[in-house]
Amino acid sequence: MRLTRRALLGGAGVLGLGAAAGGTRHLLPPAWAAPALDVTLEARATALPLVAGAAPTPGFGYRLGGAAQDGPYPVLRLRQHQRLRATLLNSLAEHTSVHWHGIRLPHAMDGVPWLTQDPVHPGERFTYDFTVPDTGTFFFHPHCDTVSQLGRGLAGVLIVDGDADNAPFDADILAVVKDWYVDAAGNPAPLTSAAGASKAGTFGAVATVNGIVAPDYTVPPGGDVRLRVLNIDNTRVMQVGLEGAEAWVIAVDGNPVEPWLLKTWRLGPAMRLDLHLRAGAAGSTVTLTDWFAAQPRRLARLRAQGPALARPAFAPRALRAAEVPVPDLEQAETLPMVLSASSGAAPPTSPGVPGLPNYADALCLSADTFWAINQQAWPPTAALALPPPLATLKLGRSYKLEILNTTQFPHPFHLHGHTMLVLESSRGDLPQHLCDTVLVRQRERVTVAFVADNPGDWMVHCHIIEHQETGMMGIVRVA
Ligand code: C2O
Ligand code: CU
Repeated sequence: MRLTRRALLGGAGVLGLGAAAGGTRHLLPPAWAAPALDVTLEARATALPLVAGAAPTPGFGYRLGGAAQDGPYPVLRLRQHQRLRATLLNSLAEHTSVHWHGIRLPHAMDGVPWLTQDPVHPGERFTYDFTVPDTGTFFFHPHCDTVSQLGRGLAGVLIVDGDADNAPFDADILAVVKDWYVDAAGNPAPLTSAAGASKAGTFGAVATVNGIVAPDYTVPPGGDVRLRVLNIDNTRVMQVGLEGAEAWVIAVDGNPVEPWLLKTWRLGPAMRLDLHLRAGAAGSTVTLTDWFAAQPRRLARLRAQGPALARPAFAPRALRAAEVPVPDLEQAETLPMVLSASSGAAPPTSPGVPGLPNYADALCLSADTFWAINQQAWPPTAALALPPPLATLKLGRSYKLEILNTTQFPHPFHLHGHTMLVLESSRGDLPQHLCDTVLVRQRERVTVAFVADNPGDWMVHCHIIEHQETGMMGIVRVA
């Protein structure tokens, strides 16, 4: 029987959303039935109680208009293919923008000042209007003076539902990991230094999850838990793992994978990991831990509490597959992306991109240049004249990028507007998966492929923000 639109809409309420224990199919409204989500995001100064006994630490945050906000990062939740109209209101003292990290959207909505839009000046508004093509766990953040704005907490979470409609989880837990730049008295500490920017980056002193130091969350005993881990830190590369339960990786950067058992997973800045685990008996705990440093860090703990759920034998959830275009690997042209230290000489001056407005601007100018892609450092004068593209891709064609890290530090490599398929690593230990950001370790070569199906000038950059703002950034043109 074919259901009409009315029947589906009428039926959805009757059948009850999100009920369906034990794998019963249930109907959710189809994507086109979901009305657009209209929100206001006010970028403003805020303060967070980070150090016990000290005054709250000043920072930045988005306030979600008209909705209760639990913690420093607002959470927007959409259905796949739903339309979002988000109006940024800038109540900061400097200009800003919103970049929707990992979302394949039209170029004009990508939130990169000078490249895709004018900066949004204090007191101004800008409305981002797009539909979300892919399910999963995403985030959003400013894209200028990012060391300072994201470093002070200006970020939010975007969850696109629709990948688990037929098998809902009993709990859906967010773990947004970020270190804050704070001293022992709760005062702001420096966000950057030349010593940090030229090496692994500058680290914050207070590690938090959802803005809280080592929080505990309650999960139903015996329940199926989805744990969404987001690294929104400016700098820190983590090696996340769980103690107290087995977990299966079910999505990377929001993109569903054929589940694999988690040992640990390197999660660089901007990278996300969705896990499925089965909560134990009442009173048991599961700990999310970062094993990267010599001293493991406890990030958050899940505590099983309340009535136990009777669930069938555990099986990792395969989420509904992504709808990302599949690159043609036979026909794909291969382009190098060599990540290196800059030569030390002044970055190349550029002729600029005709047709784009020029601005003189004191923000977004890094005083130092330490890094480059393909020997080309993002010029400090980019606000005056954008540099020429690193590569020009033909619309609709498939490409491979060979990302070679010649440095002594890992670099999370991010491409805007497209989803990359990781093919292989020279170290031989990366499973194939879709992503928007891939961590390329010291002396490693990672090959990715994608279909250049989104026209425009797109950023590529390291997501260690100090590296991005001191040269390791460029433009890839799709035309
Ligand atoms: Cu998450 Cu170019 O950014
Ligand atoms: Cu880097």
